[in-house]
Amino acid sequence: MAAPALDVAALRRRFPALARPLAFLDGPGGTQVPDTVIEAVAGYLAESNANLGGPFATSRESDLVVSRARIAAAAFLGCSPDEVGFGPNMTTLNFALSRAAGRELAPGDEIVATRLDHDANVAPWLELARDRDLVVRLVELTGDCRLDLADLEHKLSGRTRIVAFPWASNAVGTVTDVRRVADLAHEAGALAWVDAVHFAPHGPIDVRAAGADVLLCSPYKFFGPHLGLFYGRREVLERWRPYKVRPADDEPIGHRFETGTQPHEALAGFAAAVEYVRSVGWDAIRAHERELSRRFLDGLPARYRLHGPAGPDGRTPTFALTHPTRSAWEVAKALGERGIAVWPGNYYALEVMRRLGLEDGAVRVGFVHYNTAEEVERVLVELDDLAAPGGAA
Ligand SMILES: Cc1ncc(COP(=O)(O)O)c(C=O)c1O
Repeated sequence: MAAPALDVAALRRRFPALARPLAFLDGPGGTQVPDTVIEAVAGYLAESNANLGGPFATSRESDLVVSRARIAAAAFLGCSPDEVGFGPNMTTLNFALSRAAGRELAPGDEIVATRLDHDANVAPWLELARDRDLVVRLVELTGDCRLDLADLEHKLSGRTRIVAFPWASNAVGTVTDVRRVADLAHEAGALAWVDAVHFAPHGPIDVRAAGADVLLCSPYKFFGPHLGLFYGRREVLERWRPYKVRPADDEPIGHRFETGTQPHEALAGFAAAVEYVRSVGWDAIRAHERELSRRFLDGLPARYRLHGPAGPDGRTPTFALTHPTRSAWEVAKALGERGIAVWPGNYYALEVMRRLGLEDGAVRVGFVHYNTAEEVERVLVELDDLAAPGGAA
């Protein structure tokens, strides 16, 4: 059945930032936010700003904002509201959770991470390994930047305790078979630890169907405010001893892993972002993004080298490219001057870039559902111009 068509023009009117002439093809670095998110953030600060648990109106309202954010997170991730927690961003949460997990690891235990990951799902394990004498192994990639599952199987052992991997690559857009990797992790007796930051704006997440034990994402990548979010399977969160201050509540269970006062205004905005995504619908988002991908791939000038999956399948609409002669920085700067926002560099996907031998990284063109066919055409025209013999870059 055909997915409902997106009325992109109508959606875009809800994003004040999109009124400027800049083409926002920087979604993998952070997305713009719709009116309801902005209103929720501002509304909280104007009307309910307080700390939690107090015997007065604004504090009670703040308690409600936090409970609603947990319910929204549960709906977004397919878990129970007490299995989630918030923090400043994914990286901070991952350092914190990995340290809690590390308390049950013994010297010589092994962690398998991947070369497809953003460093936020690699460095915490390297640091933990350093502190606790663990071994970290990195899963290799195939030629088109997919996870090499044979290599993963090879790297699993009786000592593997955690398999950390991305749902999708923020550099080359590869989507992984999360369930398959989680099953392999579980067969080895390890936890499946999923970085869903890049995938979250592009498709539905169901932590139970995915088999995730831990999953992290960042609402600022899916039309919400700057914030990090995690899911932890109840049995796992109950088992771990958190790094927490003694007076902080032990319930709900996810809260034990949140430290200090949360950005309540961001939690208010987060719930609005989840409602926004629900109202647009994943089928429509995916169909539109696929069409943008197809258009981009069909029109990409042959002089550019595309890294990662060659077709629109098994990927997000995120494309890493190299110009025949110009550095990623030069190309992105030239596009920026022509009113198109894209990222140069490695976007912290260090191992992917190493594997591709791209010391300066690549140009990343990333679409989300609020981008238009016209924007795809616009970036293709400019890329073509910048790569034309004697071109202007
Ligand atoms: C795949 C992926 N993982 C992790 C992160 C880190 O997220 P945060 O900025 O919330 O720490 C990013 C940010 O770009 C990302 O793209």
